[in-house]
Amino acid sequence: MTAVTAGTAVEATVETTAEEAEAAFDAAVAADERIEPRDWMPEAYRASLVRQMAQHAHSEIIGMQPEANWITRAPSLRRKAILMAKVQDEAGHGLYLYSAAETLGTSRDELLDKLHAGRQRYSSIFNYPTLTWADVGAIGWLVDGAAITNQVPLCRCSYGPYARAMVRICKEESFHQRQGYESLLALSRGTPSQHEMAQDAVNRWWWPSLMMFGPPDDESAHSVQSMIWKIKRHSNDELRQRFVDICVPQAETLGLTLPDPDLKWNEERGQHDFGAIDWTEFREVLKGNGPCNEQRISQRRRAHEEGAWVREAATAYAAKHAAKSAAGSPVEDAAADVAEHVEKEATA
Ligand SMILES: [Fe+2]
Ligand SMILES: [Fe+2]
Repeated sequence: MTAVTAGTAVEATVETTAEEAEAAFDAAVAADERIEPRDWMPEAYRASLVRQMAQHAHSEIIGMQPEANWITRAPSLRRKAILMAKVQDEAGHGLYLYSAAETLGTSRDELLDKLHAGRQRYSSIFNYPTLTWADVGAIGWLVDGAAITNQVPLCRCSYGPYARAMVRICKEESFHQRQGYESLLALSRGTPSQHEMAQDAVNRWWWPSLMMFGPPDDESAHSVQSMIWKIKRHSNDELRQRFVDICVPQAETLGLTLPDPDLKWNEERGQHDFGAIDWTEFREVLKGNGPCNEQRISQRRRAHEEGAWVREAATAYAAKHAAKSAAGSPVEDAAADVAEHVEKEATA
């Protein structure tokens, strides 16, 4: 029997057997307790979390591109400030998620290398272009809306660092959804051509948003095990249905239609029926054949290369501080920092 060191999910602090550690993990998951970084966990659970969290983190930072495209062309200072805040939030979401993934022993560099090499995915939704200003509104309403529907249950995910990161992310996503909705409402109630622009954006983003929930349940490779481990709480199809039911009345308030002739209320089910999703398109985009796959990944690689000096500077700064801390006390360090800062200000 292999001996492993137990963490908090296993109450013992001394060495325990592999079987005991596994039983403690199962019991913690069953009791809805959180699994923490130092707890024993099955390798497949760790790998599954790294895959999901990496894909999620990559989606956050790649998702900055389609909207950042409109920052310089926002129609007013107010809209520009909102959009800049939103795009910055997405960078922050990436940061929380890469940090949460690091608690599983995978560095951010490693994950970014895999993204740049095409070995890890990001959400296929970001491979569609933002053709008009109304796309920013449609993304906020539909894409951030779908993200919230997916992510609120992740706040109760069994892995502690992921669940805690999601709490803050969801608060910010809800602001993103609201600003998109409000922007579309303004366009829809504006001039006929503004209304038309809003409708056109919704027509283009509706189906890709439904695809964000992933393949149908019977084709979803990772779903069943993820639900047993309580990483996922609801199936892809359940979440997709919930999203459709939320969007239909919102579209009515917006004065816009959803581009699906089969969309109608089903009295018996108490939910909306909706038309068939074009999964061939979804698979093509996943394979790299979407309208913007090339552009998104090459822009990401370029941004990473151009940011090399920032990483070098941050590393040098951290090393300088580590050396200082090794030499002196924290109070002396702080005093030295202030003195250095004042001197720089004075000579600037
Ligand atoms: Fe986000
Ligand atoms: Fe967002």
